[in-house]
Amino acid sequence: MSETIHVAAGTEWWRNAVVYQVYPRSFADANGDGTGDVEGIRSRIPYLTQLGVNAIWMNPWYPSPLLDGGYDVADYRSIAPMFGSLDDAKRLIADAHDAGIRVIVDLVPNHTSWDHKWFVEAVAATPGSAARDRYIFRDGKGENGELPPTNWSSVFGGPAWSRCEDGQWYLHLFDISQPDLNWTNPEVRAEFCDIFRFWVDLGADGFRVDVSHGLIKDPDFPDVDLASEILTVGHIENHPHWDRDEVHEINREWRAVLDAKEVELGRELMMVAEAWVKPESVPLYLRPDEYHQSFNFDFLGCPWDITQMRSSINRALVDAASVGSSATWVLSNHDVVRHATRYGLPEGTDYQEWLMHGSAELCDHTLGVKRARAITMMLLALPGSTYIYQGEELGLHEVHDLPHEVLDDPVWRRSEHTRKGRDGCRVPIPWTTTGASFGFGSDGSWLPQPSDWGAQSVEAQDGVAGSVLELYRSALPLRAASWVDSGDLNWLELDPHAIAFERNGYVCITNFGDSDIQLPDGDLLLASDDSASVAMIAANTTVWIKRP
Ligand code: GLC
Repeated sequence: MSETIHVAAGTEWWRNAVVYQVYPRSFADANGDGTGDVEGIRSRIPYLTQLGVNAIWMNPWYPSPLLDGGYDVADYRSIAPMFGSLDDAKRLIADAHDAGIRVIVDLVPNHTSWDHKWFVEAVAATPGSAARDRYIFRDGKGENGELPPTNWSSVFGGPAWSRCEDGQWYLHLFDISQPDLNWTNPEVRAEFCDIFRFWVDLGADGFRVDVSHGLIKDPDFPDVDLASEILTVGHIENHPHWDRDEVHEINREWRAVLDAKEVELGRELMMVAEAWVKPESVPLYLRPDEYHQSFNFDFLGCPWDITQMRSSINRALVDAASVGSSATWVLSNHDVVRHATRYGLPEGTDYQEWLMHGSAELCDHTLGVKRARAITMMLLALPGSTYIYQGEELGLHEVHDLPHEVLDDPVWRRSEHTRKGRDGCRVPIPWTTTGASFGFGSDGSWLPQPSDWGAQSVEAQDGVAGSVLELYRSALPLRAASWVDSGDLNWLELDPHAIAFERNGYVCITNFGDSDIQLPDGDLLLASDDSASVAMIAANTTVWIKRP
């Protein structure tokens, strides 16, 4: 029995884009100071072109004390000197456009850095002042206000409130250095509309909006029953600060800004939400006057399980189509353990626990990479757009054994060294097989790279048949030529251990079982692994076939 899933029509570039996520600090270091930079990224545009991506998303590149990897923004209209200058950014955008690559910038509206001039002003001002009203300052509870205003927790651990010298408390849902803005303040609203316009005028084609589900807080500031969990928030009904109805007004305001700019400039623009919300809420963010897309984070936590994967795919496609949007597929990003590692660890592993205390041997790297290749090809064949995190095209693993003294993530600090956090997926990219930082720069790298990093480098994989890099290089253009314009999806029931679907004569089959599956008739276009013989699909393998 087959079942058809409808795909919403539309020709906008973002609907089917392959978006490559660049973590600027760790991508390429042109000036040899150990930290990646904008010029480094620009120098790698030929690499990205050859890979076949349609857009790049730049993680925050603004001036910042980097207490949360740049998500603590001190100035939204500038580039951190360690990364370069606004002129460098303009050159990068221009070169990317010349190569047919769109540029998405990361906007962080929930909070600023404590170095932002507004917060500096707020701390120096008095309680009740206009400067304090841009943020969320409150008096404390207890006889002398010595207790925080609510019991809310920071996502990174510890309380979500810190106290100023004059006794008032300010809210920070993340690090102490990231005070939350007050989104009921008209000045805050106007400022961000203007920041959107600023980056569009500079050439940006889209925005990835950070913590888009957190902007509005319950005005009564009630206590919450459950402690927030790291980055898996938003699943609680009527939560005092996640996924509140009023965020949709803000979404609509921004969409109107982008729609007006689109008309003015004649360029298609988009915004994609980072919204960790319950599944029923996702389509609300995707209504035609809100976000163009929202990240679908299901696959960041989805085990190697055919039932869960298929139902995630179904739901994402149906939800997106119900509001005229397109689905998104994400396997890794700068916040999670890399998926080549996740798929190599035994099912049910607590990743943070493994990072702290687990042995390297627990991870079967070969299996992890094999499954990573298979699932990547499966997601690339689906309707919608795919977000690739830098280094996954090399099959990079999580660096699980970074020395404690180099750990930089606020999760490590705020959990009092009980959780390592996210540094292991942010280790600088190896470009060459040898050299001080494997071609990342001319000297060291801000996080140490493993000694065997060279074997996984671009140089080591370039032109090597069967390498992960060459698989991506084959799959992306083939996807553009086949799947992208193939519309609706029909589920195929070929084998109980396979996820199989067809779109316009193209068939994708992934073998989740332990034994081989018979290859159906047709031309074999690509296999995730060369163990797919002419007649059989091996375990943990995906094939693309063109029907005769
Ligand atoms: C988002 C970012 C994450 C950051 C947090 C606070 O979840 O992806 O890296 O720490 O927001 O801005």
